[in-house]
Amino acid sequence: MANDKLAIDGGRPVLTKPVVDGWQQVTDREKRAVMDLMDQGILSVPSGGVIGALEREFADFVGTTYGLACCNGTSTLHSAYMAVGVGPGTEVIVPAYTWHATVTPVLHCSATPVFAEIDPRTLCLDPDDVERKITERTRAICVVQVWGNVPDMTRLRAIADRHGIALIEDASHAHGAAYMGKKVGSFGDVACFSMQGQKSVSGGELGMVVTDSAELFDRMLLLGHFGRIDKGQAGPTFPGIGDMSLGCKYRAHPYAAAIARIHLERLPELNRLRTRNYEMLNDMLRGVPGVGVVDPLPGAERGGYLEFKWVIDPDDLGMSRERFADACRAEGAPVSADRYSSLNFTYGLLHLAPLYNDFDRTKLGGCFYDPTRPDLAKGLGYAPGSLPVSEDLCSRMIGIPALADVPEAVVELIGRAMRKVAGAR
Ligand SMILES: Cc1ncc(COP(=O)(O)O)c(C=O)c1O
Repeated sequence: MANDKLAIDGGRPVLTKPVVDGWQQVTDREKRAVMDLMDQGILSVPSGGVIGALEREFADFVGTTYGLACCNGTSTLHSAYMAVGVGPGTEVIVPAYTWHATVTPVLHCSATPVFAEIDPRTLCLDPDDVERKITERTRAICVVQVWGNVPDMTRLRAIADRHGIALIEDASHAHGAAYMGKKVGSFGDVACFSMQGQKSVSGGELGMVVTDSAELFDRMLLLGHFGRIDKGQAGPTFPGIGDMSLGCKYRAHPYAAAIARIHLERLPELNRLRTRNYEMLNDMLRGVPGVGVVDPLPGAERGGYLEFKWVIDPDDLGMSRERFADACRAEGAPVSADRYSSLNFTYGLLHLAPLYNDFDRTKLGGCFYDPTRPDLAKGLGYAPGSLPVSEDLCSRMIGIPALADVPEAVVELIGRAMRKVAGAR
């Protein structure tokens, strides 16, 4: 058939118009909410007000006792690590396949990250490798529900409990996801959510940290929320420290909180649309030789997403990942090589980044290394091949933006374009 000739080779593309997602993060509702605050002359809210409302609503949504709004997701991770006692002499088990901000706050606590493998079934931390990497120094495990995928949270919780260590969730990609009917964010001792511009609940730049522990909540207040410790939940968690506490300013902006409150209301619809579109594409691609579909584990409900992912096999496809992505784009499908996996894109897989290897962290000022283990400041000893499963998966992953308000017919054309490139009829 003439139409089988790939567009990249001069054939007719499957999609003739650019794919436009009609889902708007800024609608009249968000504009009005910000304008209302402006009309009241509100520029900063230390606690309560719109910040308190978002904290309450988000904690209720996740099913935790407390929520603490912060200025971004990175500060929530710093707060979480600090709160659970990550410090000199301790280790935190993290995936290498994540955004760098999951891990860099471990350095801010002068502790050591230990990179563990991801599981091909979920793209999230592999519980077996987590168990192998636990030492007497391990203080916490940080699981990332990457791209809205959900690992076996019950098992990860049980591992943490068995070893008496903290479980932290970096649920920045997974707003509204669940495991066995329980929302992601309610399994960890502390759970962190970025609400940066692209996230499914966003304030532009914003974060939220949730916990059931009054003491952990207070420790996080102490780190980053000037003037709130007197309203702490655990009573005098650190008597005598005074209002100034530790003085980081991790307070959220009220306009960001106002926007995020509306996004939280709209989240179920966003997740419904994204889940429908991803499932539609997965149904079209399941069984296509060379294209691996990542299905949810039994009992897992994905959410948030950020991007839709597949793991291709270049040998089965008879072409490189880059050629596959280029050819799909030529067909009009917005496919790209996974952005966490290329060393040319800012850092690639984290365990191979200079910061954890050749770069001498003693030269940074401050103490961005474990002073009890200065040998590790000049490299944690990860070489290519040290996380073979993660490295292999990442070298083969492709993705498209998480489609929400896109007509089903267009989603189907994207699937057809990918099938065409994969050589499936
Ligand atoms: C998995 C993950 N963790 C943490 C962060 C950091 O969040 P923020 O950019 O809001 O500081 C991000 C941001 O994209 C992220 O994707």
